[in-house]
Amino acid sequence: MAAYALKINGRTHTVDVDPDTPLLWAIRDGAGLMGTKYGCGVAQCGACTVFVDGNTVRSCSLPVSAVGTSEVTTIEGLRGREGAAVQQAWVALDVPQCGYCQSGQVMSATSLLSKNPKPTDRDIDLAMTGNICRCATYVRIRAAIHQAAKSLEG
Ligand code: FES
Ligand code: FES
Repeated sequence: MAAYALKINGRTHTVDVDPDTPLLWAIRDGAGLMGTKYGCGVAQCGACTVFVDGNTVRSCSLPVSAVGTSEVTTIEGLRGREGAAVQQAWVALDVPQCGYCQSGQVMSATSLLSKNPKPTDRDIDLAMTGNICRCATYVRIRAAIHQAAKSLEG
């Protein structure tokens, strides 16, 4: 066990865990932030997606010892124009079904719009391909990303 001071959503959380503990468990069990979900545990489903220094990361597969002083952002700390636009579009189009995958979907969609403000259907499908939804909300996800992009115009 070792103590790690993790910067999560602008606050420092000290967690005492083994170095190879996935960041996901430091977020959920250490910081008590439950919005980030455990799905597959092997970087295949996207349920655990967070930002580390602004880049999307599968937190189930990143050892806590590799985070260092990087800034971690979870769904609870999502801010900025793109994040707000995505969340508003998600609500307006009633995207979630069971909701389990959706925090990861929102993080990936926000990342996409931060890099590509006018994504095509193909851009969206490529960017979101690593986020699996067992309820198959993909049509609404795509529509919501287009709506969020439109709301960011001008
Ligand atoms: S739980 Fe991390 S990608 Fe599935
Ligand atoms: S909304 Fe149920 S898994 Fe995506």
